[in-house]
Amino acid sequence: MNSDTCATWAGAKPGSVDQWAYDVVVVGGGVAGMTVALSLDSKLKIALIVKNNGTQSSTYKAQGGIAAAVGPDDNPSLHLADTLRVGQGLCRPEAVEVLTQEGPAAIEFLQSHGTEFNSLESGLDLTREAGHSRNRVVHYYDYSGRQVSETLARLLPERTNIDKIDDCFLVDILISNGECYGCVFLHAGKPVMVRAKAVVLATGGYAGLFARSSNSSTTVGDGIAAAYRAGAVIADMEFVQFHPTTFTTLAGEVFLLTEALRGEGAFLLNSAGERFMTGYHPDGELAPRDEVSRAIIQEMKSGNGTVYLDARHIGKESLSQRFRQVYAKLAEDNYYLERDLIPVAPAAHYSIGGILTDIWGKTTVPYLYACGESAATGVHGANRLASNSLLEGVVFGRRVAKVINDDFPARGDCLELPAAICSKGNSSKGIAIFGEILDDFAGAIRNGEEISWLLYYMKQAPLAGEINNDKVQECQAYNIAQMTELILEAALARNESRGTHFRIDFPEKNDADFKKHTIQQKGKKVSLR
Ligand code: SIN
Repeated sequence: MNSDTCATWAGAKPGSVDQWAYDVVVVGGGVAGMTVALSLDSKLKIALIVKNNGTQSSTYKAQGGIAAAVGPDDNPSLHLADTLRVGQGLCRPEAVEVLTQEGPAAIEFLQSHGTEFNSLESGLDLTREAGHSRNRVVHYYDYSGRQVSETLARLLPERTNIDKIDDCFLVDILISNGECYGCVFLHAGKPVMVRAKAVVLATGGYAGLFARSSNSSTTVGDGIAAAYRAGAVIADMEFVQFHPTTFTTLAGEVFLLTEALRGEGAFLLNSAGERFMTGYHPDGELAPRDEVSRAIIQEMKSGNGTVYLDARHIGKESLSQRFRQVYAKLAEDNYYLERDLIPVAPAAHYSIGGILTDIWGKTTVPYLYACGESAATGVHGANRLASNSLLEGVVFGRRVAKVINDDFPARGDCLELPAAICSKGNSSKGIAIFGEILDDFAGAIRNGEEISWLLYYMKQAPLAGEINNDKVQECQAYNIAQMTELILEAALARNESRGTHFRIDFPEKNDADFKKHTIQQKGKKVSLR
């Protein structure tokens, strides 16, 4: 049994813990989790376990859309080439092949489940985002993710084999003899153990760990942390994509200004009112995100600290229609896209690293699967091509369901209960520190010496606050500390700059030594292979 679990078992004795049994447990209420649940055989009894109620997920918040080669001038090979180029030599080509070939079928899957997208007389209305050589982003105004999320969520109650259970915090994976037998979670604060023949982690990424992030603050990699404790291999944790254009509201919320704005012609201006991106990259404002983010940081440093998005020339009619969500949000703070320059800054947006899987979502732990942002399928390499992530959730979610349907494991039950349950007791006070640490030490520009010093310091004096009595917060704090360390260790191991990972002490790409994936596994040193 896995002894390094993080849960305070709420003081529970084994007999006092609720125990449930399902065929499959799917953890996560974003597009990947819902796609798996809806694609599994209706004879299977499924628990869909969701942290809040799904509206905090990165799927729900996604604005841009879903990239797929569905346009008349497009094909999967062009989509594949763009994805590989942006991924800077670290994509797994076979995974990208799957993603791009199965892209059009993923769009059909969503449409056949009722998802509406913007269309023209000629077919789907396709927009462009950074790094794409064609217009291929299928969207619904600027709330594509919410549209997908709400549409799929509406179908769940019709499926009598699916129990969607909200307000669940994943604590740990149940492991016996190296195999997964279910998981443990806190439901409304109480511990529950669910036995299952297969567990699918679709728990999302970890960009919400950063203080400045476009993600919800609950998107902190709980599934990845639990998989790591269960012995699964974790890969490429240093790669975190920073979105160049986020706006900070008067209330302090970091709000995304979708890249589609630049796709539709918006510019970036420095504090002197000059367009600067063409000086950094031939694709200008539509250069890959890592380059735009670093250019913005550079311009902020050399100017008065402010960079602006200028969409004034696009006109009110188009802006308010096409970018409804962004337009309304900015208007709340008295900013109008057709009238004002909008101050923008990069923020952590998407985490590329996660639980290593093959192209069927199988992790290195038998009967444990992962898909969506929590998985490291290798489709994104060192930098994700815009709008490939909702696509990844659908494509690999369907594949996980297929492999479970085709080969539903006939296996016995795990009779053991988790043995030792520990608490490291980081308080919520501790949690805030980690966000600042990641912004400062693992942001868009990193320095090995500083990371090394920080890790040394963290090991000498763990950043723990006082223990409080909220079990979810305790478990959350434990995960946050663990994830922070995993990111920093991976960032320190990669002595080069590639894609989203930029080290000022190693500013060049080094293919000879680092065209490899970063691998982390409990009890082993970080390695590259
Ligand atoms: C955006 O709308 O700019 C975000 C799209 C994405 O991250 O793929």
